[in-house]
Amino acid sequence: MDIDPRQLLLGQTALITGASSGIGEAIARRFAAAGAAVGINYHSKPDAAEQIAKDLSSQGGQAIALKADVSREDEVRAMVAAFVAAFGRIDTLVANAGIQMDAAIGEMSLEQWQRVLAVNLTGQFLCAREAIWQFEMQEPTPHSRARGKIICMSSVHEAIPWAGHVNYAASKGGVLLMMKTLAQELAGKRIRVNGIAPGAIRTEINRATWETPEAEAALLRLIPYGRIGERADVAEAALWLASDLSDYVTGTTLFIDGGMALYPAFRAGG
Ligand code: BGC
Repeated sequence: MDIDPRQLLLGQTALITGASSGIGEAIARRFAAAGAAVGINYHSKPDAAEQIAKDLSSQGGQAIALKADVSREDEVRAMVAAFVAAFGRIDTLVANAGIQMDAAIGEMSLEQWQRVLAVNLTGQFLCAREAIWQFEMQEPTPHSRARGKIICMSSVHEAIPWAGHVNYAASKGGVLLMMKTLAQELAGKRIRVNGIAPGAIRTEINRATWETPEAEAALLRLIPYGRIGERADVAEAALWLASDLSDYVTGTTLFIDGGMALYPAFRAGG
């Protein structure tokens, strides 16, 4: 395949939700370094998103910050319209925005349940639907073999039950079958839909699990590969899924988890 590995997304555009920090930020920076014009969606951190856009522009890239609560149809619609007005088309949507609101089942409020489902699952649905409408309208480009690509940010908890996080695990289980169903429905239109299931990646969302040496030691017992994941581990996988290198891949979840989903407790039991 004749693609310059440093320019895997040359001439392409990508909208990344939840990109003002964490995994989303890393993906936006990685995609920009690979030649894509990127939209950095944020919900509550305008300064961070603007700073990332400024950094990328000063490095010769094209980037804009876009505010939207992904759980709101009107805001998603406005975000996608602004992105298309700026860059003309969408080649890849990374539906990444996600939250945790943890509680044991007895203490979980309906609001905690609904908010997590609204952002993590309904948010991906709304962004995907909007992107798909756009994919169907736009002309093919010589820069991408697929008409459009969607990457759904899932979690190892699409497969691993997680006590005390029933809203989050249910949302990611939903993402799994949403992703596969869309992949099946859209393959004939040459739209690829895939998922990424990160394990424990060092970000703010799970700071408590790696911040102290004791917490880190406990976490490492769940990771056969023996290290906590870094944001770049996920960003490289996203880059591959967005690029033509994965042109024959659709309906798949890539686990980026150092083996966390391999039932590590069974190393010494069973
Ligand atoms: C969660 C993190 C957690 C990881 C592994 C992710 O989806 O957001 O908080 O550390 O799964 O359990």
